Amino acid sequence: MTLAMKFWTVVFNVLCLPLHVMYSVGLYNIYKRIFPMCLYRISKNYNKKMHDKKTELFRSLTQFTKPGGRLTLLEIGCGTGANFQYYPDGCKVICTDPNPHFEKYLQKSMADNDQLSYERFVVATGEDLGSIEDESVDVVACTLVLCTVNDIPQTLREVHRVLRPGGAFFFLEHVVANPSTWAFFFQHVLQPLWYYFGDGCEITRATWKNLEEARFSDLKLRHIDAPLFVLMKPHIVGYAVK
Ligand SMILES: C[S@@+](CC[C@H](N)C(=O)[O-])C[C@H]1O[C@@H](n2cnc3c(N)ncnc32)[C@H](O)[C@@H]1O
Repeated sequence: MTLAMKFWTVVFNVLCLPLHVMYSVGLYNIYKRIFPMCLYRISKNYNKKMHDKKTELFRSLTQFTKPGGRLTLLEIGCGTGANFQYYPDGCKVICTDPNPHFEKYLQKSMADNDQLSYERFVVATGEDLGSIEDESVDVVACTLVLCTVNDIPQTLREVHRVLRPGGAFFFLEHVVANPSTWAFFFQHVLQPLWYYFGDGCEITRATWKNLEEARFSDLKLRHIDAPLFVLMKPHIVGYAVK
């Protein structure tokens, strides 16, 4: 399968040549304005299918509230705010995303979830959460973001930096399929096209390895089959404690 996979990956790369050129001359930035509208629809559908998984995951958030306090949660790559509905009442939310064009959708999600208190929206990448102080949050959350960041180890170092000791990093991410499957083959072959339509998303990442190598004291991680399109089925879900 490896030779065939390499051949078809090259074919798809050649077919994507116009997209590669648009990207290298900066024209792809136009898509950054359109992507929030696409993601708004995609997230609604994703939430419908993944409702039980998200509910189960985020149920554990309250374990990380300091006694007598309110949970302070930082979300990285918050997109349209699709996770707000899963956060516990009264939770203080700081959200970050490098794309500033989500604002309209974020405001709608904030209005729909006024049981939370929103501290601020920071335009920042996961790799550089600069304005967030060291050890200042109880929880960092991200869903479908580690597939897109440029540097997972650096993002996890930043997450570790901003978490208070005993705080936790919650994640739900799609990952690469088992190498013996057709899903693995098609993930690799279609990756060049997927990258552009998914705003930099890579479906071939073994993200669990980065989490295992990061400096967390305890990692609760499960591989699950999400009820989604075959290339998106393999997911990891869980949390890592600082
Ligand atoms: C597939 S969307 C997921 C959005 C949201 N977390 C959700 O579950 O609906 C990926 C998000 O990651 C953001 N993103 C892209 N590069 C990033 C980076 N380097 N650091 C943090 N977020 C990034 C994108 O702007 C986008 O909002």
